[in-house]
Amino acid sequence: MMTKENIDKVLAELGELKCKTLKEVEEARVRFLGKKGEVTALFEEFRGMDKEFKKQFGRALNDLKQAAQARIESLKADIGPEAGEGDTASDLSMPGDSFDLGSRHPVSIVRQEIVDIFRKFGYDVAEGPEIEDDYHVFEALNFPPNHPARDMQDTFFISSGHPNPLLLRTHTSSVQVRTMETQHVPIRVVCPGRVFRNEAISARAHCIFHQIEGLYIDEGVTFADLKQAILLFAREMFGPQTQIRMRPSYFPFTEPSAEVDVSCNICHGKGCNVCKGTGWLEILGCGMVDPNVLEASGIDSTKYSGFAFGMGLERIAMLKWRVNDLRHYFENDMRFLEEFDTVV
Ligand code: PHE
Repeated sequence: MMTKENIDKVLAELGELKCKTLKEVEEARVRFLGKKGEVTALFEEFRGMDKEFKKQFGRALNDLKQAAQARIESLKADIGPEAGEGDTASDLSMPGDSFDLGSRHPVSIVRQEIVDIFRKFGYDVAEGPEIEDDYHVFEALNFPPNHPARDMQDTFFISSGHPNPLLLRTHTSSVQVRTMETQHVPIRVVCPGRVFRNEAISARAHCIFHQIEGLYIDEGVTFADLKQAILLFAREMFGPQTQIRMRPSYFPFTEPSAEVDVSCNICHGKGCNVCKGTGWLEILGCGMVDPNVLEASGIDSTKYSGFAFGMGLERIAMLKWRVNDLRHYFENDMRFLEEFDTVV
């Protein structure tokens, strides 16, 4: 039988409800407001009552239902939206989310290593524009007017039909020209930077790559100085046991010119698939700066002499980490980049 006491009892029960999880709140909702809930049961009973009784209990029952709904809502709100069934989301002792810092690109790591070595030898770092003119990339470097390197096959020209067309630099030797034009001798610089050549992209060639070139000009600089500088560099870079060998070569801007090989740091000269069984790895080109190049930039070639060298950073990085495909350096595949987890 419905009595005022019955209704007050349910109200009191509602007031004493305690829930720790959303699951418990849901159980409480079912207990009071569900199909067979206590409040619902009172309403069922009410339906069958005489008019007279209805008047007596109607308002109280409605108040009870509203109180029950409000109580359930407030219990839910106390727990908060993110907390699930007894889960750990609100466990403040849990470790926080970590976030990735990223790591340096292998080309950037190698460039820094090489720059640091030459800084120790007293070299400065010089940089220059990637969009250059024919004069600084070819003309001032003693390239004969019809030299094949000026050909469309190798160079990305930006303007044509001009005596000094704009182009994307094919080597950072242009920065050395700019340094000779603006600085006084003695000059000791390394020029790291991005260069562009119109090559088909493959595992061994790309239309973009990075170089670091060096220039040393002073009175009385000889080929012996060049050889010593390269040997010291190679030992700093590849380890103290490293040997070098020089093979005669040709560049328009150096005379004499040489290609430099280092002893293979993997098989130590015995021959392996990295050095293709020769025991040697080619790393750079170098030579004594041609007097024509010095004169073109206003340096007295009867008084001063110098040497220059240049190497590809991707190639050095390939040797260092045994990367077998140049394209990896440009594709920004996270699986590749994450291999180089060096301190940022
Ligand atoms: N500039 C040359 C190249 O891009 C490298 C080089 C620099 C060779 C200096 C000799 C001296 O291939």
